[in-house]
Amino acid sequence: MSKGKVDALLGIVFGDEGKGKVVDVFTPKYDIVARFAGGPNAGHTIIFDGKKFVLRSIPSGIFAEDKINIIGNGCVIAPDLFMAEARELEDAGYDLRSRLHISKRAHLILPTHRVLDRAYEAAKGKNKVGTTGKGIGPTYSEKASRTGLRVGDILDNFEAKYKALKARHEEILRNLNYTDYDITEEERLWMEGVEYMRSFPLTDTEIEINKALREGKSVLAEGAQGTMLDIDHGTYPFVSSSNTVCGGVCTGLGVAPNSIGEVFGIFKAYSTRVGAGPFPVELFDETGDRIREIGHEYGAVTGRNRRCGWVDLVALRYAIMVNGVTQLIMMKSDVLDTFSSIKACVAYEKDGVRTTDMPFDTEGWQAVYDELPGWQTDLTQMTSEDQFPQAFKDYVAYLERQLETPITILSVGPDRAQTIVR
Ligand code: GDP
Ligand code: IMO
Ligand code: MG
Repeated sequence: MSKGKVDALLGIVFGDEGKGKVVDVFTPKYDIVARFAGGPNAGHTIIFDGKKFVLRSIPSGIFAEDKINIIGNGCVIAPDLFMAEARELEDAGYDLRSRLHISKRAHLILPTHRVLDRAYEAAKGKNKVGTTGKGIGPTYSEKASRTGLRVGDILDNFEAKYKALKARHEEILRNLNYTDYDITEEERLWMEGVEYMRSFPLTDTEIEINKALREGKSVLAEGAQGTMLDIDHGTYPFVSSSNTVCGGVCTGLGVAPNSIGEVFGIFKAYSTRVGAGPFPVELFDETGDRIREIGHEYGAVTGRNRRCGWVDLVALRYAIMVNGVTQLIMMKSDVLDTFSSIKACVAYEKDGVRTTDMPFDTEGWQAVYDELPGWQTDLTQMTSEDQFPQAFKDYVAYLERQLETPITILSVGPDRAQTIVR
């Protein structure tokens, strides 16, 4: 934790690395936890005391009752989904109203943005991204084309602004010949969500965060998705629509680059990807199925199978570079407990060309692997590093050497308690 700084905790591969779990573990050390990008396409799982929560838009610091949580300006928010998510927490006994602040500058996902998401996907033929269908792409597109609605808009003459934008969307949908949809019920809940959101502090969160930093307080920026899904640095066009990298913390919270402290890069002991797009380490054999089954690799938002493979050092090195990662956090080590050998992708190869740098077009590359012995020991009950079997220590040391970055936290199970700080 760095006082007066924003530490970033970023997924550095294809998302679902375990960001929610680690943010929850880190929260006691921080004053503010803030989401800076993405929206309800995210699904962050937190497990403690036998309870499980999956958060979409609300930061994972929400379970520590005395901390401020912020949904920053770089986020997009769907009022109906926000209401459902927040009510679940309120029903579980968490008081949110005073300590969950929403940026007036965050953009609103309209029901028709979700219809547009489906319509654009349907029109894409074989290049479908496999979006979560939450309206992320259309909402960020609209932000960039300067026609979107922001949270602050709900405070003034909202009905008229909503109707005008909805009419524009309906026209686009007619032009796309995509007319078989009915959002009547969705819209009713959405409007109820807008009303519900009005009871939360809708603030200039960038001013609030900068004031806190001047007072020496500490902020944890919670990433969503991962670097390989970043709109600039991911496997475009098979990406999400925001900057998920560290630069996105500055734009998505309104903080200066020199206010960034530690950059925690989080990854799994293996790789997964949900949705379409290149994935050189993907395993189509029973090893891939075994990783999926043991790791419960099914999407937290859509329930889809996650594609599985070995750890990808090409992607990790690239992510460490573009994010300026200072510390690595390795999750789900326990999932590999029963494997007799473990592989790590050290390079990509195509048409006789080998590269260790992330190529512009990741399509069609084959992974080149190193092979290491597995540890074949149950890690899930271990509470300190000295209990680790030598083969696991060797795997960690190998990754640190390859990535030239320390791995400071190792996760050996989904529970808050199964986290080992080195
Ligand atoms: P996020 O989107 O990055 O927050 O990650 P998700 O919540 O989508 O996916 C991570 C999944 O792995 C969740 O189901 C977690 O409960 C689970 N998980 C997190 N850390 C560990 C771990 O160390 N071991 C195991 N077995 N599961 C973990
Ligand atoms: P968290 O924060 C994994 C993927 C989708 C799709 C692509 C674009 O839980 O790690 P979108 O709906 O954003 O337009 O979809 O990005 N995707 C994620 N994959 N984890 C996520 O979030 C994701 N958010 C989006 O599957 O391939
Ligand atoms: Mg997730």
